[in-house]
Amino acid sequence: MLIRRRFGWEIPEAAATPESVALGRRSLIGGAAALGLAGSARDARAALPAEAAEFAGPMSAPVDQRYQPGRPFTPTENVYTYNNYYEFGEEKGIWRQAERLPMQPWSITIDGLVAKKRTIAFEDLLKQVTLQERLYRHRCVEAWGITIPWTGFPLKRLLEIAEPLSAAKYVIFYTAENRRYMPGLSEAWYPWPYTEGLTMFEAENDLAIIAVGLYGQKLKPQNGGPIRLVVPWKYGFKSAKAIVRVTFSDKRPLTFWAEVDGNEYGFWANVNPAVPHPRWSQARERLIGFDKVVPTQIYNGYAEWVADMYKGIKGQQLFR
Ligand code: MTE
Repeated sequence: MLIRRRFGWEIPEAAATPESVALGRRSLIGGAAALGLAGSARDARAALPAEAAEFAGPMSAPVDQRYQPGRPFTPTENVYTYNNYYEFGEEKGIWRQAERLPMQPWSITIDGLVAKKRTIAFEDLLKQVTLQERLYRHRCVEAWGITIPWTGFPLKRLLEIAEPLSAAKYVIFYTAENRRYMPGLSEAWYPWPYTEGLTMFEAENDLAIIAVGLYGQKLKPQNGGPIRLVVPWKYGFKSAKAIVRVTFSDKRPLTFWAEVDGNEYGFWANVNPAVPHPRWSQARERLIGFDKVVPTQIYNGYAEWVADMYKGIKGQQLFR
């Protein structure tokens, strides 16, 4: 008998917390934080280990005005305390545990089909890029959305630094496995490390960025600090957190969620309100931090910049 295991993000609509209850709970968190009441992220940060606290600080840059999110930013407290990060567990409230993750030293190995394999320290990588702020919508496959100002640089700049060979067709992101700080890694059922990938043509699209900051601050561990991928026209699971290795290959990678259940989560995972997840609708999304549900847009509203990339691709599930 096949036992269908359910993940934290897989809430069948019939069994889901009623929207009003869920929204009430979210606004309560926002309200409590605003009033400085118990459990605020600030209280917990005071107790952080030195190496984690040292990493905090400003990471601001000029705004790239080309991409306007068209809706208000999600309150910071919601974005810092409502996360998907399976290395820390299957619940949304893993931020306290995640905030303890040491992010110094941090380096990224570049290998596979490249002119020269190497490992770059995070600080040295930052010296080679020009930071900018991108105001993006983020759509999780679970039918919720947030709107956030990332600080980062175009992924195509990382490709220039990496110098992939012309045979490379895919760029693959491997993410941190720190067993001491990430209790979720002991769940051997998952195919760790969390792995994601893009085709080279997607990676060269200007919208794809590497983020190192959020809300003008260095990226917090629970949001993927110190360095993560952001691909705003795809479901959020493509935007891998805590990158430690970037590999170039001529073969499509078996990505984390596709390996868990390839029928439900694919390689392409482009946002499309007309293509439901096998167990729930993708037509609308709940805006975290606001008492609001809004229609989901094709390619999460970024069609004018990305739709052409997929015109020639036939016979593949582009929207799951
Ligand atoms: N990256 C890693 N390494 N592990 C994860 O569990 N979850 C993904 C993505 N990147 C995940 C990850 C999912 S499902 C989403 S929706 C986003 O991160 C959530 O990002 P946020 O917590 O910053 O909102």
